[in-house]
Amino acid sequence: MNSLRAKSESRFLRACRREPVDCTPVWFMRQAGRYMPEYRAIRAKHSLLEICSQPDLAAEVTLQPVRALGVDAAILFADILLPLIPMGINLEFAAGEGPVIHNPIRTPAGVAALRPVEPCDSLGHVLETVRLVRRELDGKTPLIGFAGAPFTLASYIIEGGASRNYLKTKQMMYADPHTWHTLMGKLARVVADYLVAQVEAGAQAVQLFDSWVGCLSPDDYREYVLPHSQLIFRELSATGVPAIHFGTDTATLLPLLKEAGGEVIGLDWRTPLDWGWRALGFDVAVQGNLDPVALFAPRAELERRVRAILEQAGGRLGHIFNLGHGILPETPVANVKAAVEMAHESR
Ligand code: CP3
Repeated sequence: MNSLRAKSESRFLRACRREPVDCTPVWFMRQAGRYMPEYRAIRAKHSLLEICSQPDLAAEVTLQPVRALGVDAAILFADILLPLIPMGINLEFAAGEGPVIHNPIRTPAGVAALRPVEPCDSLGHVLETVRLVRRELDGKTPLIGFAGAPFTLASYIIEGGASRNYLKTKQMMYADPHTWHTLMGKLARVVADYLVAQVEAGAQAVQLFDSWVGCLSPDDYREYVLPHSQLIFRELSATGVPAIHFGTDTATLLPLLKEAGGEVIGLDWRTPLDWGWRALGFDVAVQGNLDPVALFAPRAELERRVRAILEQAGGRLGHIFNLGHGILPETPVANVKAAVEMAHESR
């Protein structure tokens, strides 16, 4: 099967374009990871960065949930922080702590020293993973590439890791907007080039993760973030592959996320799907939005919640079933599989 036919036949890609589908397509953010025994077996022998930098391992981990769950898309196994390494960020995934950045950037000189990135050189291993996965999937299941959005990446670079209040991030934004925009401009350039390179390597859709952007007011989003994310979506639209724009806690930001760009907007579980879709307008596709904790609920309760989301989608064109955020590490695999089947019974 050539890739053009696969494109038109995949229910995931059809839903991204708001075309009719035989049933609701499903995939899960963080569908590859510690909740899967197959992943833990590889992770026992290799660090996260080792897996990401070895295309055969990264490709294998990308394929594990496709085989085990029957999802309608694969997502490249990588991490949003990888492109920061060639920019000059010294990062580590510390056990139990999440990412730690040893040289956080908080000054104009620090921002000036961040290096531009040529994805084919310094992120070539990720692009090789994309090629390997495409070959393995053989046109049957589409592959989603991804990157972190400039705001979410900036928050890690400035805070040095995860954050509760984004104090240092907002401090730079409010006290030195020039340095802030210089940093965001550099990140947007790297992310746009990296995503376009993933598409050229074979990614059939891409997702921009702006996971933490919900800490901003609409006014701050418009002034400090929107132009930078918009540049990325503008460059992606020239590639012709659909782009998914994801954030959490975004209820009041939804019209602005749509303005920044993306054929599909991700909704988290705090925003009822029908309410969010109406706020966005039905001329854009939506993705979401089961609470990841619902996958720990008794089967009947899980089913009630999956059905409620499908009812809110109301059979409109352009709904992709997903969680509102990533799968949690202790999630029972059987429930994830059951949720796929429940969503597929939608029509
Ligand atoms: O299956 C997939 O979705 C693809 C793989 C993927 C990873 N990270 C691998 C990973 C994806 C899409 C990401 C995105 C990512 N990484 C985001 C955006 C999505 C989100 O959750 O909001 C963010 C914010 C990060 C940064 C990051 N990486 C954090 C906060 C952590 C630690 C949290 C944790 O779950 O431990 C990571 C580590 C990480 N990235 C893991 C995986 C599978 C777990 C680490 C491990 O295996 O030890």
